Amino acid sequence: MAEYEPVLLRNVGVEGSTALKVYESRGGYQALAKALKMMPAEVVEEVKRADLRGRGGAGFPAGVKWGFLPPDRKVTYLCVNADESEPPTFSNRVLMENDPHQVIEGIVISAFATQAQTAFIYMRVEFHEQFHIMQKALDEAYASGYLGKNIQGSGYDLECYIHRGAGAYVCGEETGLIESIEGKRGWPRIKPPFPAVEGLFHKPTVVNNVETLCNVPHIIERGADWFNGIGPEGSRGPKLFCVSGPVNRPGCYEWAMTITCRELIEGDGFGQGMTNGKQVKTVSPGGISVGFLTADELEMKMDFTDPANYGLLGLGTAAAVVVDTGTPITQVLANVARFYAHESCGQCTQCREGTSWMSKVANRIARGAGRIKDLDLLVELTSNMGMMPGLSICGLSDGAAYPIRTIVTKFRKELEEEIGRRTADQPAKATA
Ligand SMILES: Cc1cc2nc3c(=O)[nH]c(=O)nc-3n(C[C@H](O)[C@H](O)[C@H](O)COP(=O)(O)O)c2cc1C
Ligand code: SF4
Repeated sequence: MAEYEPVLLRNVGVEGSTALKVYESRGGYQALAKALKMMPAEVVEEVKRADLRGRGGAGFPAGVKWGFLPPDRKVTYLCVNADESEPPTFSNRVLMENDPHQVIEGIVISAFATQAQTAFIYMRVEFHEQFHIMQKALDEAYASGYLGKNIQGSGYDLECYIHRGAGAYVCGEETGLIESIEGKRGWPRIKPPFPAVEGLFHKPTVVNNVETLCNVPHIIERGADWFNGIGPEGSRGPKLFCVSGPVNRPGCYEWAMTITCRELIEGDGFGQGMTNGKQVKTVSPGGISVGFLTADELEMKMDFTDPANYGLLGLGTAAAVVVDTGTPITQVLANVARFYAHESCGQCTQCREGTSWMSKVANRIARGAGRIKDLDLLVELTSNMGMMPGLSICGLSDGAAYPIRTIVTKFRKELEEEIGRRTADQPAKATA
């Protein structure tokens, strides 16, 4: 593979990388100094020109989102999405754990660009260690004038707080997150209005993912043209990829979005292939919500456009989980379905009922009491839920539908064989 210079992970593995002094000694906070000499609109323009697409799952261009803020606003909030609730995603965790000042620099520049006075880092409660690392870094940043009043003598003020969520998947959805920061149950809101117009405490709000924000200092420091020189059109800039499951080197890796799913699993600097000669059965390449690939589909490019050619929802969080041939597909189906049934917030009928039915049917199949017609039932259920058909408040139900539909359609033969075999073994067990 071609050479690639790590940008987002450049400080990982450096001794004392979480300390402000080490970050500064490696060029940290230089981008902030540059940004503070620019007009906020110029920073927004540079990020727009870079075509930085959101890394949290939806891939929406960050600069365009910032441009939706009403020009006459008085109060603006920045919410940093550090919920990282998508299984099996851990790139935000790696960034916060190893390079908290990179995260903070990204926050301050982005808050300056959008003229936010307050930033909230919404962090899942399971991130105990990361919380302490981030809080220590925030304290250091305040003490050194990178946060608080009159940042670096620029006249710009920013307060930044960590808000710890209680650990619900749906609180990663931007309006569920906003409700949760407001102290309410994390129920996603009907949109419009979108957060840029009416978000936290009903004020204009930007919600961005940790990795998205970490790209911002590099865009300001090196310029949009540099960013545009990495990766294909529509998928520009450095990107973090996670790989987990029975691979030799599970982890979080940085590359351009030119990498294929196979390279991520088998490549030398990446997953380094399967453990103990195991074979790939299926891979969910972007967090489980995007859906599943077969072992024959691993040439898929890990970018923002190719996943659709494989029937997937998108690139998602670019976190691949690999399942080997020793795992029954019925188990994968039942596990995935149970997750969404557990995490649906229940506001929308078709999501609440659909995820629950899918889980019951998938569980019935896994228990050996399934029927062939259950597979058609599952596909039918997946077609009748989701934001895309205009039926739900948030994207959780699309995210539930894609993995189930791709498993059932791509592994139909194996599922039919499994159902046939189990039904023959246990003919009298069919219950709901
Ligand atoms: C059910 C659900 C869970 C989500 N969880 C996360 C999450 O944990 N982290 C995240 O950044 N985005 C998550 N998102 C996407 C956010 O709603 C939002 O698009 C994102 O935070 C915007 O940031 P970005 O534009 O920088 O990607 C989730 C979306 C849905 C529908
Ligand atoms: S789609 Fe599901 S998770 Fe999202 S708001 Fe509706 S019920 Fe809640």
